[in-house]
Amino acid sequence: MKPLTRIRSHRDYLDAYAKSVEDPSAFWAEQAESFIWRKPWDTVLDWNFSDPDVRWFEGGTLNITENCLDRHLSQRGDKPALIWEPNNPEEAHRTLSFRELHAEVCRTAEALRAKGIQKGDRVCFYMPMVPELAIGVLACARIGAVHSVVFAGFSAKALADRIEDASCKAVLCSDGNFRGSKQIPVKDVVDEALAKGCKSVETVLVLQRTGQDIAWTEGRDIWWHDALEGMPTESAPEIMESEDMLFVLYTSGSTGKPKGVVHTTGGYMVYSAYSFLNVFQPEENDVYWCTADIGWITGHSYIIYGPLLNGTTTVMFEGVPTWPDAGRFWEVCDKHKVNLFYTAPTAIRALMAKGSEWVDKHDLSDLRVLGSVGEPINEEAWHWYHEHVGRKRCPIVDTWWQTETGGIMISPLPGITEPLKPCKAMQPLPGVQPIMVDVNGNELTDTEAEGLLCIKHPWPSILRTTYGDHERCRQTYFSAFKNLYFTGDECRRDADGHYRIIGRVDDVINVSGHRLGTAEIEDAIDEHADVVEAAVVGYPHDIKGQGIYAYLICAHHVDDHEQFKNDVLETVTRVIGPIAKPDHMQIVSGLPKTRSGKIMRRILRKIASGETDRLGDTSTLLNPEVVQEIIEDSLHGKVS
Ligand code: WTA
Repeated sequence: MKPLTRIRSHRDYLDAYAKSVEDPSAFWAEQAESFIWRKPWDTVLDWNFSDPDVRWFEGGTLNITENCLDRHLSQRGDKPALIWEPNNPEEAHRTLSFRELHAEVCRTAEALRAKGIQKGDRVCFYMPMVPELAIGVLACARIGAVHSVVFAGFSAKALADRIEDASCKAVLCSDGNFRGSKQIPVKDVVDEALAKGCKSVETVLVLQRTGQDIAWTEGRDIWWHDALEGMPTESAPEIMESEDMLFVLYTSGSTGKPKGVVHTTGGYMVYSAYSFLNVFQPEENDVYWCTADIGWITGHSYIIYGPLLNGTTTVMFEGVPTWPDAGRFWEVCDKHKVNLFYTAPTAIRALMAKGSEWVDKHDLSDLRVLGSVGEPINEEAWHWYHEHVGRKRCPIVDTWWQTETGGIMISPLPGITEPLKPCKAMQPLPGVQPIMVDVNGNELTDTEAEGLLCIKHPWPSILRTTYGDHERCRQTYFSAFKNLYFTGDECRRDADGHYRIIGRVDDVINVSGHRLGTAEIEDAIDEHADVVEAAVVGYPHDIKGQGIYAYLICAHHVDDHEQFKNDVLETVTRVIGPIAKPDHMQIVSGLPKTRSGKIMRRILRKIASGETDRLGDTSTLLNPEVVQEIIEDSLHGKVS
């Protein structure tokens, strides 16, 4: 078996890129041949973007966990596969070799099978960042069950919505969660979610993590350790079709409830492995650490699948960057001799604000590549990351991609894409064909351009559908521009053809690297009995990238602003979770609307950003007078 093709030089990149565009099928077939397939595929690619219908490696069968685990056993059996660093530095870390991880995945897979979970069943995870989360995810993949990981910061209601949307048969959770100095109930939230309906759930597997008191539903709840008792350390992998569903991951869009982005087996495997290899350039004994949570796509592709498919040691961290102190990330890098480090700009900005001394005092001489993901990185943060963390030796890979793309799409290759330009994601990976268009869908053919970012040809890990609602997938991504996948992002291309991603052009805001729909937050605020109408926009925020600014119309006069504000925050926390809490709230008597009744968010965004001199023409509004009132109130400190 040939290994995946590694790009070693700029020439290699140009060759690979040219080949991937001239003959995508031949290019990806060659990459796919480096994996174990139970049966080879008949057709490399069949696609159209109008339905949309994209199929990679049809006719081929495989199991992704054989490629993550089994095939490494002979050469790498004793090599660390997973290093787990707990929340509390006083607690011992855990290392699982590929052999141990394989055994744990098999035991868990058999435990799930014993609970009647079969190929195609959906399994929801609501767990802290502990090894069992990665083990459980892989156990699902082992038996062909579809994992749906829900970030454990979401509320019971948000969890219930996601469980119901995918009719999950089981929920895997823990009793509680250690996060910084806090101990957070997890099982209680699951109980509350399941009390809302969720009739499909037959089993709740509970990992003992904090030992806190929890309620117990006999017949439904089972301790993780009891379920695994006596299970064999070998488990026959379910043989999957290449296009069988591997996982669902919910993400926010401009409208409605979050949707379940669906990824399938063969293409996702090939692309997550290929992109990891080339963007991070791991060497055999490297230790790689991605600080994301497995509740997001970054954790799926670049904590679990990408590294393990490449046989790379992956670190998983339970805690937070600032506890017990602002040096924790760097202490962990030093402790585990991390070579490749991947984090989000929001974390960099938060740590930068605490002062460089926290990073300067640690030995970071093993670091070789630094990655950034999730939102645009600003110049100041880029330089701080480069100087203080990378000590000016480590290239930064600013990786642009999305839940829907499954893997990194536009990124520098470390040591290969030179010189780096701060804050630019630079160039597409082989197989990725970006195209920029204007709002009317006309291609921007000049090299130097600013416009909407689309992709014109499928890559192996493109989303296949949105769970249970294919039409929504078509509408959201494939209807704006004919025969193009529309990313929702705006970007700039410089004279050298290098890309800088500016941000979303839809009603999605990116708060600390977390995607939230403004409509979703508005719906949550509207649940408060005294709110008549709410409009939410993003505005620039020093640490979070974007903050949440909510304009509210109240049912009656509010005397106690503080109380009201707290009530609204509580409502949002209950409906979505603390990540969606507005940073600013302003009570208004009306919202600027068009004559057809649409809220003019553009104006609200400008006011929230303090750009009141750039509002443009407001005279065509239905109620132009409210604009002045909103500006005055925002200036006169009524903003809480
Ligand atoms: C934004 C995260 C600028 C972008 C992997 C995208 C970025 C959204 C970058 C997807 C980057 C992600 N530079 N913006 N390097 N990476 N984004 O689905 O707006 O959570 O559309 O996937 O994050 O967020 P998601």
